[in-house]
Amino acid sequence: MKYTDEQIRAFGLNRESIPAHVAIIMDGNGRWAKQRGIPRALGHRAGVTRLKEIIRFSSDIGIQALSLYAFSTENWARPKTEIEALCSLFVEFFNREFDELNENNVCIRALGDTSRFPAEVDRLIRNANQRTRDNTGLKLNIAMNYGSRDEILRAARLAAEEPGGVTAENFEKHLYTAGLPDVDLLIRTGGEERVSNFLLYQISYAEFVFPKTFWPDFTQERYIETLKTFSERSRRFGGLDNS
Ligand code: FPP
Repeated sequence: MKYTDEQIRAFGLNRESIPAHVAIIMDGNGRWAKQRGIPRALGHRAGVTRLKEIIRFSSDIGIQALSLYAFSTENWARPKTEIEALCSLFVEFFNREFDELNENNVCIRALGDTSRFPAEVDRLIRNANQRTRDNTGLKLNIAMNYGSRDEILRAARLAAEEPGGVTAENFEKHLYTAGLPDVDLLIRTGGEERVSNFLLYQISYAEFVFPKTFWPDFTQERYIETLKTFSERSRRFGGLDNS
């Protein structure tokens, strides 16, 4: 379902001030679980519920691209049991949600080198990418084994091999986000105010919002509040305010 302008206004938002590209660092699953005295894996599972809600709302409200940080290159340092729990959630997510995402015209791609994951995870994400590549709706990027410094070095090496060398155009076409608009809004839930090696090149002019809410509590309502905060920011891109 796509919201009309009137429905968007009923949320207190305006179509003109909706960001083209939202990036989210979904932090706080572990602390959410700890608060409840339950295993961290259950925090991640609760996080998937929110992830589905935020993807659906982003698609319905007409956001062009949504990039979610699901697993960083540094996350391999976590206990094996937690990595396995996350991999099971990835498998479950792609198996259960793929058809609905595809029907909603969502185009799925992974950011990062997914070949380090168990073969089933890698296969599911590649398959999802192939089957949705012509979809024209929300561009859903799931960062898995992603690190921005790695991405930048990789793009620089590949650009250096191109005929024109390392131009902005040659460089950008080798980023995992090739063809997508720059990030307008970076959200990190959980109260910490760090970027943690996420989309460093793409967030050059992004607005940052750091809600204190742990990711499993970041509902559609919290997301709307964050989008309102974004719409109130004055963005000058290095120039002067026109107002
Ligand atoms: C950070 O919380 C969260 C992660 C490292 C994993 C994010 C993954 C999901 C939300 C679910 C799986 C994703 C998909 C695509 C199905 P943390 O564990 O660092 O929390 P803490 O800072 O409170 O310890």
